[in-house]
Amino acid sequence: MLSDPPILSLDRLTKTFTLRPIFGRATQVEALRAVSLDLLPGRALALVGESGSGKSTVGRMIVGHHAPTSGRILFEGRDIAELTRRGDQMRYRQAVQMVFQDPFSALNPAHTIRHHLQRALSLHQPEADPETALREILDDVDLDPVSTPSKFPHELSGGQRQRVNFARALAVRARLIVADEPTSMLDVSIRKSILALMQRLKTEHGLSILYITHDIATAEYLAEDTAVMFRGQVVEKGPTAQVVGAPQHGYTRLLRAAVPDPSIRLTGSDAGFAQDARQVRAASAAAVRGMTEVSTGHFIADHAAGDHATAETERADA
Ligand SMILES: Nc1ncnc2c1ncn2[C@@H]1O[C@H](COP(=O)(O)OP(=O)(O)OP(=O)(O)O)[C@@H](O)[C@H]1O
Ligand SMILES: [Mg+2]
Repeated sequence: MLSDPPILSLDRLTKTFTLRPIFGRATQVEALRAVSLDLLPGRALALVGESGSGKSTVGRMIVGHHAPTSGRILFEGRDIAELTRRGDQMRYRQAVQMVFQDPFSALNPAHTIRHHLQRALSLHQPEADPETALREILDDVDLDPVSTPSKFPHELSGGQRQRVNFARALAVRARLIVADEPTSMLDVSIRKSILALMQRLKTEHGLSILYITHDIATAEYLAEDTAVMFRGQVVEKGPTAQVVGAPQHGYTRLLRAAVPDPSIRLTGSDAGFAQDARQVRAASAAAVRGMTEVSTGHFIADHAAGDHATAETERADA
């Protein structure tokens, strides 16, 4: 398995946003700083990290919502910036589908579920009998194939709507799904079943998944590999069992310690921990100079010591 080439690679991907306020000076936000990641076919890579670390920016760049400031995105070894033929661009846009946090956002309230899925099916699976293909695809995502097609998005639950979004990815024969917090707006009681659905899409349909989440515990459930982001950089990546089970980077340990897990005990007093946390965060924000392989396929970032030129200053109350 390890010899399989990645389906998608990010190669030193950088994104700087320029904010131009109506008054005052333009400011720059370094949302991504030289992010390199590999996604292996038929596997899930979890992208974890706190709010603002750059996770969604990675996802949006993969689906082409933003162009890189520098660096490359390679799909099956080809730089997507060099897909100049319209047919190649369309094939890429079809192969890589995004599922958003808000299950409503990608659905048109004026159209039935049949309309949403049959358009995709007729374009991408023209050889199939439309009714049979529709039933099969609803069945694949555990929606009732008889009652669902005539419903409108607002007649479904949040979880059912999210299933429609996954069904649409199947309908266009997506190869890779970028799922950005796909369960966080859903009722707690149904989150697990959506994760189970993604697990099945991976194992039964061979889909690759970039799973963006705040929730490290769900990364352990779904993802073979995990990358941890902080301040626009990858600070640790590798097999989930290593990264989550035995984190080696200070920031990952902090993140792990914030997960309510009774088996994890913090050492020292709370005040001491808060002090350490500030130091860890400041050091982890410094520019990454390289990655060290601490065990097979498990890498942690080497930060430039005392380089706070590129690091945002840590607030005292952070
Ligand atoms: N279109 C944009 N214009 C300007 N700044 C942006 C834009 N998109 C993202 N940013 C900034 O880039 C940084 C990373 O944002 P991003 O949304 O990728 O974080 P995230 O890890 O997905 O956070 P969350 O967990 O809250 O969703 C933030 O500082 C954000 O304000
Ligand atoms: Mg986000």
